[in-house]
Amino acid sequence: MKAVVWHDVGDIRLDTVPEPKIEQSTDAIVRITTAAICGTDLHFIRGTVRGMRPGLVLGHEGVGVVEEVGKNVRNFRRGDRVLLSAVLGCGSCAYCRAGYYAQCDTINPNGARSGTAFYGAPADNGSFNGLQAEYARVPYAHTNLFGLPESITDEQAIPLSDIYPTGYFGAVIAQVTDGDVVAVWGCGPVGQFAILSAFQRGAGRVLAIDGHADRLERARALGAEVINFNEVDPVEAIMELTRGIGPDRAIDAVGVDAESPKSGPAAAKARDTDELHRAELREIAPKTNERNGRWRPGDAPTQAHHWAIESLAKAGTLAIIGVYPPTDRFFPIGTAMNKNLTINMGNGNHPRYIPKLLAMVESGVVRPEQMLTQHEPMREVMTAYEEFDMRKPGWLKVALNPSVN
Ligand SMILES: NC(=O)c1ccc[n+]([C@@H]2O[C@H](COP(=O)([O-])OP(=O)(O)OC[C@H]3O[C@@H](n4cnc5c(N)ncnc54)[C@H](O)[C@@H]3O)[C@@H](O)[C@H]2O)c1
Ligand SMILES: [Zn+2]
Ligand SMILES: [Zn+2]
Repeated sequence: MKAVVWHDVGDIRLDTVPEPKIEQSTDAIVRITTAAICGTDLHFIRGTVRGMRPGLVLGHEGVGVVEEVGKNVRNFRRGDRVLLSAVLGCGSCAYCRAGYYAQCDTINPNGARSGTAFYGAPADNGSFNGLQAEYARVPYAHTNLFGLPESITDEQAIPLSDIYPTGYFGAVIAQVTDGDVVAVWGCGPVGQFAILSAFQRGAGRVLAIDGHADRLERARALGAEVINFNEVDPVEAIMELTRGIGPDRAIDAVGVDAESPKSGPAAAKARDTDELHRAELREIAPKTNERNGRWRPGDAPTQAHHWAIESLAKAGTLAIIGVYPPTDRFFPIGTAMNKNLTINMGNGNHPRYIPKLLAMVESGVVRPEQMLTQHEPMREVMTAYEEFDMRKPGWLKVALNPSVN
């Protein structure tokens, strides 16, 4: 079958690989009808999240049709249309039962104390082959698959695989309650769903910060008050908009590939921290493979944290859903401590939220398909990756059709 395969930092290819087979009685094999490219995939190619195994199939977002199930999968059968949860749990351990699927004790072959299991991810995260492929093996399929009603299209379902539950998780752990002023840092696909979810959970105002005008425009369409850090100093703008108090909650939807401002008043200030960011990058991403501007790591890994913490109201809450590697040890702890902030973070517990979000999509309350800006056949996948990596205007979220060569 055709699949997107990680070979090295800066080197992914559309290869022919063997089809997956049932390995455990709790597995299912799913024929993928829609997959997607995620900001998380970019970290692996830019070299800012390390530990990928050469030969691993990439991708963790998928919708498909069940081909085959192991004997201990009793809730699905061949022919069922399903959504695949990006984050994987076993459904039986104490963590899964408490809703902490991202910290499942069982599913990661590296053992109970290892990281969140997800497809197409580093060895520490289980090395499960990913979903940018014609077929995929789903472990503990009873918990990690969700039946899709006829009324929900693939385009409506695919954001429920990862980006919508992640954004929703961000609003939950940011402790957003009625009337809150919420700052969402980063208006990529995850940030967009964090904005939408913050409003769903009662936010009175959402301030959205990014450096890309097209992404900010989409945030504005969701009702957010937008701030371009390449035009104004975002911390000053937030202070002005909140009468010097700052937002109650902040959500980091940027991740380790954060950028410094390249123009405007914030750019001049950022020069003071250039050396700090260079030191961070040397340690976080010792190996990069930038080509013609592609696969270039963000130049300021903790930029969003510095701004978020500086601008938060005293005793506010920061939720970190952007991904940072275990090797990152540069968090600005001092300012956070001295403001009595609460900080919650992690990978989303997707199976906990997917049924609720699916119901909202089914009822028409949310139309997540509007976030998909590109629909590409598999033969275009390499170009699609590059355009998304370069944040080409208009390229917010790429859906892939693995069955169309
Ligand atoms: N926690 C989870 O379970 C989970 C799940 C999915 C994705 N993620 C992570 O969420 C993050 C966002 O994913 P995405 O797909 O939206 O990626 P993306 O790369 O498309 O979006 C990141 C956005 O942040 C903006 N940005 C860069 N520097 C910034 C700064 N200093 N301040 C404000 N904005 C800045 C970029 O312009 C971009 O629009 C990634 O780190 C991804 O790995 C986490
Ligand atoms: Zn994703
Ligand atoms: Zn578990």
